[in-house]
Amino acid sequence: MTAPYILSASILSADFTHLGEQIKEVEKAGADWIHVDVMDGHFVPNLTMGPFIVEACRRVTQLPLDVHLMIETPENLLEAYARAGSTILTVHVETCPNLHRTLQTIHELGCKAGVVLNPATPVNLVEPVLHMIDLVLVMSVNPGYSGQIFLPEVLPKLTNLRSDLEKINPTAFLEIDGGINSNTLPLALKAGANAFVAAHAIFDYPGGISAGVHQLRSHFPD
Ligand code: DX5
Ligand code: ZN
Repeated sequence: MTAPYILSASILSADFTHLGEQIKEVEKAGADWIHVDVMDGHFVPNLTMGPFIVEACRRVTQLPLDVHLMIETPENLLEAYARAGSTILTVHVETCPNLHRTLQTIHELGCKAGVVLNPATPVNLVEPVLHMIDLVLVMSVNPGYSGQIFLPEVLPKLTNLRSDLEKINPTAFLEIDGGINSNTLPLALKAGANAFVAAHAIFDYPGGISAGVHQLRSHFPD
């Protein structure tokens, strides 16, 4: 959990007929976390992984499981995802009218708590909870699919959040998700991110998964 820079490999672009092997391959290549994108077909237009996928990931790796909940009323499913073996449970501020309570529940379930902002959601909506979170995630695409184009207009949000976190909660991770590749990772790094999610740039990398991981990690400062 504690490395200064984190690469979180999103299995949304994995080949699900070989999920176990592919997770082992990204782990061996140096991915720090496994990112699991949970979508409900309501909050986002796609439908993906239930708790049983988290359980399956937990059986093949000891890496932290970074579970990104893109679902309405996430509080109904927090316990199921926690029991399945999630390390971090990250909820969208847009789905949580009682955000403070939801984050408290995540901690009570024994998980790290993260909060996510969609590209059009302003930073001030999470400021009141920054002291109590382990991770803030800034979306750099509209959530729903892997392989979308990075939206550079979110970079100032990283800069603002980095400066808030320095004052309030310097050990929390500042994560970026969507369109991260060799061109965009350095921009997000410069703006203050220290955890980087990537799906397409790892699992569809022309030179293979391991080379994709190495390529992205090569941008991390020594
Ligand atoms: C998008 C998901 C992302 C996605 C990233 O809704 O939250 O985690 O898998 O995919 P890439 O890295 O291909 O943009
Ligand atoms: Zn994600």
